[in-house]
Amino acid sequence: MIKKIGIIGAGKMGEALIAGFLKSKAFTPQDICASEIVEGRRRYIADTYHIECFEDIEKVVAFSDLIIVAVKPGNVKNVLEGIGKAITPEKSLVSIAAGITLDYLIRYLPKEIPVIRVMPNLACFVREGMMAVCPSESTSHERLEAVKENLGLLGRVITLEEKYFDAVTGLVGSGPAYIYLVIEALSDAGVKLGLPKDIATTLVAQTVLGAGKMVVETGEHPARLREMVATPGGTTIEGLIELERGRLRATLIDAVVKATERAKELSKA
Ligand SMILES: NC(=O)c1ccc[n+]([C@@H]2O[C@H](COP(=O)([O-])OP(=O)(O)OC[C@H]3O[C@@H](n4cnc5c(N)ncnc54)[C@H](OP(=O)(O)O)[C@@H]3O)[C@@H](O)[C@H]2O)c1
Repeated sequence: MIKKIGIIGAGKMGEALIAGFLKSKAFTPQDICASEIVEGRRRYIADTYHIECFEDIEKVVAFSDLIIVAVKPGNVKNVLEGIGKAITPEKSLVSIAAGITLDYLIRYLPKEIPVIRVMPNLACFVREGMMAVCPSESTSHERLEAVKENLGLLGRVITLEEKYFDAVTGLVGSGPAYIYLVIEALSDAGVKLGLPKDIATTLVAQTVLGAGKMVVETGEHPARLREMVATPGGTTIEGLIELERGRLRATLIDAVVKATERAKELSKA
């Protein structure tokens, strides 16, 4: 486990990482700092999480042994140029930027720096994130394991070849947004049927959480679990037929393919 963490870019994802690490109780606010360009955001992060939030990237690099770059892809080059002057090989660098490849990251850093590309999602906020990691060649096994131990506090972590990262971006990085849309639609169905909105949303969100947990914890095929709900001649099969008529399955596949294509475009930019 790496004890001092610095997050560069305390936006939506940077905040999720800060919140998740602090909720894990493995870190105190004295172990984490951040850098953020937007002044109001700096104040919000410092007030909410009681961590130091600087404007100056070099202060974060000097403080941290694990530096996590969480700015938008278009700002990564700028940030790396700032980091490159201050980073040393005992430190590790993680980038979570969509479409930003290891080759690109390495180009702006001294060559012995361990660099790890990670694709997480927003659920790191509640320590139920899904993260894929891919190390650069100069990253030792021990260093990768240490970084994975840190990230493991935020959810599930798997090591994957970089060739899968665009697909993981479309599936894992963007994934929560698809599910939020599904939750919204199902809770609207509850409202149409007369349920109060807040109750409908709670009913649906917990149903989604439970369904996901069943897949993860039982290891059963989702189709088998679906069959367990859809009893012959019952209510569920009526609903499932409507979903097939609406091409839900094909639409979800198309959505992930489109998001993956966009991730590919970003990596070429
Ligand atoms: N959001 C997600 O669910 C998600 C999931 C997986 C991966 N990611 C990746 O995570 C990264 C961040 O995404 P996000 O949604 O958190 O974006 P965001 O909310 O825009 O956060 C990035 C923050 O970094 C700030 N920033 C820009 N340049 C900076 C610099 N030089 N030093 C310090 N701070 C700087 C930004 O300010 P400005 O607004 O002025 O640029 C912004 O406040 C992206 O690369 C994205 O691909 C996001």
